[in-house]
Amino acid sequence: MARRKLIAGNWKMNGRRADGIALARDVAQRAALLGKSGPEILVCPPATLIAPVGEALKGASVALGGQDCHAETSGAHTGDIAAAMLADLGCTYVIVGHSERRTDHGETSAVVRAKAEAALAAGLSAIVCIGETLAERDGGRTLAVIKDQLAGSVPAGATAANTVIAYEPVWAIGTGRTATAAQVAEVHALIRRELAGRVRDADGVRILYGGSVKAANAAELLGVADVDGALVGGASLKGDEFMAIAAAGTAS
Ligand code: PGA
Repeated sequence: MARRKLIAGNWKMNGRRADGIALARDVAQRAALLGKSGPEILVCPPATLIAPVGEALKGASVALGGQDCHAETSGAHTGDIAAAMLADLGCTYVIVGHSERRTDHGETSAVVRAKAEAALAAGLSAIVCIGETLAERDGGRTLAVIKDQLAGSVPAGATAANTVIAYEPVWAIGTGRTATAAQVAEVHALIRRELAGRVRDADGVRILYGGSVKAANAAELLGVADVDGALVGGASLKGDEFMAIAAAGTAS
């Protein structure tokens, strides 16, 4: 089944208003040049920049997303943001369960699943992140960990239209170390097989790779079977670099 690739930029905790607006405009201009055969482009700014970046992206073919959401719809949750609040600002995606959230905020797969379900209920698509640590890989537990996180984190009601899986080996995030094509192929094939039992139209679910993706390695990674796009951190903060990754994902 043909799946349109998704190139998603996770800006993390970076940028002031002027930086975010400038980067968004740069990405929008470059996206216009890619045209219809290009991948879907998404940027996920920090919460403080969602509104101004949304303004800067008006009319552009670049989607807007949040980096996290709360599982509840509203209430006494100081500092948190509900999925519907993201939708209200024009977001169509939200990342949930990023390894930095799992580590820094103790998010379990059950929490991640609840957040993903809240995202779906608010009409957002959830990008559900999973990935093994270096100790887990070295201990030969990668596939077991991935199966476990997938089983625990995929939301009820997941479909190809509302759920994206991002495989991000923790040891490859922000380290300059990418997984090899063979490592990525093995895990993505496992995810595809596991999704078959959980999602009705599993064949259409996009599975992204993330972890030190940059222009120089994008073509190789995006060429691996079952890699339907990339979740890009550091390299998404530079418009030229990010959109060179997107160009590598353009259908030929
Ligand atoms: P990186 O981050 O591209 O800087 O490794 C990826 C991510 O954490 O989504």
